[in-house]
Amino acid sequence: MTTSPVSSSPSGKPVPNGDASLEDLVIRDAEPEDFGRITEIYGHHVLHGLASFEERAPEIAELTSRWQHVRERGLPYLVAEIDDRVEGFAYAGAYRPRPAYRFTVEDTIYIAPDVVGKGAGRALLSELIRRCTALGYRQMVAVIGDSANVASIGLHARLGFRVAGTLQSAGFKLGRWVDSVIMQRGLGDGDGNFPEHDPGREK
Ligand SMILES: CC(C)(COP(=O)(O)OP(=O)(O)OC[C@H]1O[C@@H](n2cnc3c(N)ncnc32)[C@H](O)[C@@H]1OP(=O)(O)O)[C@@H](O)C(=O)NCCC(=O)NCCS
Repeated sequence: MTTSPVSSSPSGKPVPNGDASLEDLVIRDAEPEDFGRITEIYGHHVLHGLASFEERAPEIAELTSRWQHVRERGLPYLVAEIDDRVEGFAYAGAYRPRPAYRFTVEDTIYIAPDVVGKGAGRALLSELIRRCTALGYRQMVAVIGDSANVASIGLHARLGFRVAGTLQSAGFKLGRWVDSVIMQRGLGDGDGNFPEHDPGREK
């Protein structure tokens, strides 16, 4: 298990990833035992929000299977733990399956409703970006449900993503048309040079 990025404050207390608003925040790799809580967090956002275009909350077995798929590809699936409780998760998946997309990943991130706006999302996504960059990926894409999702658009902008475009009314959920906002940022050298290593080919 990899645990990061908690450091010690002068008082000896852990602090999160350069953000002083949440104490005792730990970002680490997801473990099978986390999926009860992940199912609860994601289920809330599926049923009550527009960020995900799923309409039925998936069961724990389905989310565990998605996690295994992410792991099989060697991609990161992280959780944010606050006071020993999982309060959010983020992972990277293939952006699209066709092989020429192999240097591009898509991020997914959800934070428990009680702790949004406190820095957990920024800590999780920063670590996800760091991991994907280290693996040799060159672009990260966010497909954000709802152009009114200021938290997700703000989070991604804060971490260097720019809006690549908006698919107008691409979804219909909770009784209304919903846009998809596509945001993108380069990882590492981005498109500044050609890749030395080819993570898609090594899998
Ligand atoms: C979107 C989400 C992951 C953001 O995580 P978070 O923990 O709430 O965000 P943070 O507190 O870490 O904020 C990080 C940055 O995002 C931006 N941000 C966060 N909430 C914001 C809001 N309501 N309005 C505008 N900007 C916001 C800010 O720039 C903030 O940086 P700052 O604290 O330096 O100002 C979280 O709110 C969430 O899970 N929302 C519901 C589901 C969702 O939309 N998931 C994303 C799917 S693409």
